[in-house]
Amino acid sequence: MPEKQYKNVFIFLDTDKHASPFDILTTIDVFPDAKILKYENVTVEDAEQIVHDAMFPRGPEGAGHTKIFINGRDFDRASAILGKVKECMFPPFELAVIVDPRGAYTTASAAVAKTLELSLAKNFGDLESKTVAVLAGTGPVGQMATRLYASEKANVVVTSRALQKASSLAAKVNEEFGVEAVRGAEVQSLEDVGKAIENADIVLSAGAAKTELLQLNTLRECGRKCRIVADVNAIPPLGVEGLDSNADGDELLPHVFGIGALVIGKLKNKLEAELIRKAVQQSKGIFDHEVAFDLAKKMIAEKLGKKKTSKAEPPKHWLP
Ligand SMILES: NC(=O)c1ccc[n+]([C@@H]2O[C@H](COP(=O)([O-])OP(=O)(O)OC[C@H]3O[C@@H](n4cnc5c(N)ncnc54)[C@H](OP(=O)(O)O)[C@@H]3O)[C@@H](O)[C@H]2O)c1
Repeated sequence: MPEKQYKNVFIFLDTDKHASPFDILTTIDVFPDAKILKYENVTVEDAEQIVHDAMFPRGPEGAGHTKIFINGRDFDRASAILGKVKECMFPPFELAVIVDPRGAYTTASAAVAKTLELSLAKNFGDLESKTVAVLAGTGPVGQMATRLYASEKANVVVTSRALQKASSLAAKVNEEFGVEAVRGAEVQSLEDVGKAIENADIVLSAGAAKTELLQLNTLRECGRKCRIVADVNAIPPLGVEGLDSNADGDELLPHVFGIGALVIGKLKNKLEAELIRKAVQQSKGIFDHEVAFDLAKKMIAEKLGKKKTSKAEPPKHWLP
């Protein structure tokens, strides 16, 4: 009897009304023969039921070819779904799980890694003790970027139009990391933006699409310490005035270097494809922001190591 061949099946658990085609298309491009099943408006209870029903029909070997992809705008629900999925699986029926709600984990990993790369390439050092302003950081991308900066021991000012939103995010991240390094700030006016960036070495503009958050005059006048500005908003008007989406370390103002949204997007797409590949190579495991950020750091360490012209020596803890 020939050995049974299992198709790779990806089960999308999406908290949104419509599952995002972005991640489905990315998956199909990485594995054109994969079968996709999608569930929408998924709650934590639904997730338990769906995963239980996915664990058993193909037996332990088939379970190794069945992948879960957790997605959706509702960041907290996506995290709760992950908790439930982990809780309901047991050996030998464990499935590999990719987690990238609305692309936020891979986008934030790419954005933070690109600012680190530029900082190292310009000999500004790594992120430890740097002050980073994450503008409009209360969305999925900004929340995760705030966490990743905190994990790298940076001080973070995270802004929102509502002080309560920014402060409660800051308190949550401080508690998660056992630090006091994150603080929330309200931004309602240009003057508030100026205050939020006045001590920042790095600014990451993480606002909604089509929203300009930082004007060049404000950066020039208030961001005197700032050396790196990055933007994740690729849909005009862009997040930072004058920062081209394709900028990759280009000088935005004298001694201030920019990273545009399409450059971050390119690395984001690579990271997501790599998470999907890893989830197929390994029959079980969680492929989330930690894996994505680790991959991103390895990619930049490799890139910087290959740059013969750069004098920058990545600090040891950035090397794989
Ligand atoms: N480059 C890439 O590869 C890539 C991938 C995914 C997403 N993105 C982009 O990344 C950005 C962040 O994504 P996301 O899903 O985290 O964004 P989001 O949740 O849509 O928005 C982020 C924050 O922007 C603030 N905001 C909304 N409207 C605003 C306005 N009119 N003025 C000022 N602030 C406003 C809100 O904060 P408050 O209500 O707290 O003020 C919101 O929490 C988006 O531009 C998205 O298109 C890029």
